[in-house]
Amino acid sequence: MYNITVIHGDGIGKEVMEAAIHVLGALDIQFNYNVALAGNECFQKTGTTIPEETIKLAKNADATLFGAVTTVPGQKSAIITLRQELDLYVNLRQVKSYPGTKSLHDDLDFVIVRENTEGLYIGIEEETEDGATALRVITRKASERICKFAFDYAKKTGRGKVTAVHKANVLKKTDGLFRDIFYDVAGDYSDIGTDDRYVDATAMFFITNPHMFDVIVTTNLFGDILSDEGAGLVGGLGLMPSANIGENSALFEPVHGSGPDIAGKGISNPSAMILSVVLMLDYLEEHDAACTLENALIEVLSENKIVTKDLGGNASTMEMAREVRNKIERK
Ligand code: NAI
Ligand code: MG
Repeated sequence: MYNITVIHGDGIGKEVMEAAIHVLGALDIQFNYNVALAGNECFQKTGTTIPEETIKLAKNADATLFGAVTTVPGQKSAIITLRQELDLYVNLRQVKSYPGTKSLHDDLDFVIVRENTEGLYIGIEEETEDGATALRVITRKASERICKFAFDYAKKTGRGKVTAVHKANVLKKTDGLFRDIFYDVAGDYSDIGTDDRYVDATAMFFITNPHMFDVIVTTNLFGDILSDEGAGLVGGLGLMPSANIGENSALFEPVHGSGPDIAGKGISNPSAMILSVVLMLDYLEEHDAACTLENALIEVLSENKIVTKDLGGNASTMEMAREVRNKIERK
């Protein structure tokens, strides 16, 4: 029995979450769901985008599922607050081709492990006489734990190589440190291959030779940019799940936002949320269930019949979710 905190959020976040919970009902695992509020509708009701109660429930859960929220300028970001409060230092995104989608290749499968707490996103900026400066912070502790996570992840998932991505030729001190720590950590994982690449070259190789990658580990900003480039490689937002992982907590969410242009119509694609659930099941070491769920989704995508509009069909979010559930239940 797992305690799962469920944060629907706003717009299509609510729709894809309902779909994902429906599909989870087909698995032979007991889940106890604690529903918690966050986002803009929550702000209208409670005066905050992220109540203390939500943070507490997320901290105490075995895992948290997060739909998507609408962010309004000036309001506190619910997702960034959760990442900080739960110290979710890993942002993991997979770049994986699925059938029936607009992927540029039909056989891509690599992951990007992005450091999520420092780098250029530490948010320390300062106006100067003739412009502004931003601080880029790379620490030993954060570099070590993210590299260690990448190697452990490779080991656990049977992946053969970890590539560090940096710009140490220019950022000699910060990225020099990151690269050195990467090779120090690599010393403990002699059975896993290693290499390192400059971020600019990596951006090009995503286009010219993406099959060379297996696990990528990188700093915050580079990871952010490369993971969106990766999303482009495999057909865009509707199918991109992500995991935010820390020592004691984890949160799983689709990469897309609250889709205000389609919210309320019941046509959002539930795949990214369902794949986020697959990542959650893997995190909980329920690997068989993760496999069952992913395969059911793959079946529905390959048949390309009961799928949402963005995938070329005309099914609703819940019709597609019910079809995925049917595939599991018919086995
Ligand atoms: P978005 O991801 O919500 O939408 C971009 C485009 O992709 C829209 O045309 C949308 O209809 C489409 N789309 C997204 N997900 C889809 C799905 N599952 N099925 C079918 N089509 C889908 O990004 P946008 O429009 O830039 O942001 C909308 C709101 O979401 C903003 O308030 C933004 O701040 C917030 N946002 C929240 C995130 C989060 O909660 N983690 C992440 C990204 C944006
Ligand atoms: Mg981004």
